[in-house]
Amino acid sequence: MGKLSSEEYWDSLYKPAVLEHKQFSFKEKIKALLTTLFGKNSLRSYSDYLLWEKIYKKYLPKTKGLKFLEIGSAPGENLVRFSQTFGYVPYGIEYSESGAELNREMFRLHNLDPANVIHADFLSEQLHNQHKESFDIVYSRGFIEHFTDVDAVIDKHLNLLAKGGRLVVIIPRIKGVNHALGMFFHKEVIPMHNLSIMGKKEFSKIFDRTDLSTLFCDYYGVFTFDLFNTKPASPLRFVLKLCNILQFVLNLIFHMLFRNKRAESRMFSPYLLYIGIKK
Ligand SMILES: C[S@@+](CC[C@H](N)C(=O)[O-])C[C@H]1O[C@@H](n2cnc3c(N)ncnc32)[C@H](O)[C@@H]1O
Repeated sequence: MGKLSSEEYWDSLYKPAVLEHKQFSFKEKIKALLTTLFGKNSLRSYSDYLLWEKIYKKYLPKTKGLKFLEIGSAPGENLVRFSQTFGYVPYGIEYSESGAELNREMFRLHNLDPANVIHADFLSEQLHNQHKESFDIVYSRGFIEHFTDVDAVIDKHLNLLAKGGRLVVIIPRIKGVNHALGMFFHKEVIPMHNLSIMGKKEFSKIFDRTDLSTLFCDYYGVFTFDLFNTKPASPLRFVLKLCNILQFVLNLIFHMLFRNKRAESRMFSPYLLYIGIKK
């Protein structure tokens, strides 16, 4: 299966200090200040608001205690949030050693079982024999676009999902304006992504299979700088910090303009999302 990114690359992102650093970052401090000034929801990412308040609430099961698996789970923030919002029992598969450790630390911090973080290569046959059809929901975000043979990666997602369970897959859309900005901030990471699946038609085709029934397959979100990063020492990191602060203002405007209406577009939308049921 053609891999576009390496374990060493992901390992380098998850140094042990990351968890502590993230919680007290400059961006978080500014966000806390602006939230106090403008109110709790007004600065929240508009894409995130649509995803969690509108789409997930409509299409994800409400049953507490369901076994929820994230593939490529470090640092574990998504899993904590699903556990807190829906009462699911979170599991993660992560092959980066520092990433798996960070995910365990995140679980300990939130009184979740660190033993549910499986340190393994998702492509390993042993893992698939051991956990076949074991999970009620299988989720990945920012994962499948790092492979060339995406159909085979989805086969593996489905192998771990129980019949009748939900498959949830999110990819970023590095197209249009997002591609231009991605090239500006960190052009070296662009080739790590399979850009050919980032159109709505091409993305939908991946899930057009007899063993899946589609609930949702579309762009979501308007525009967000959250999609971008820079090299650790690049001077562009300061520009991106400013853009992230500007994003709070954009979020405020998106909330006022669009409210609950969807305003997705081929040019700007930052993500594609699939939710379906395994038959
Ligand atoms: C873009 S990150 C997604 C991080 C996280 N899911 C999120 O949205 O916060 C992709 C993750 O997949 C992991 N990964 C990549 N290939 C993998 C593989 N073959 N097996 C397990 N994990 C893998 C990487 O180490 C990385 O943590």
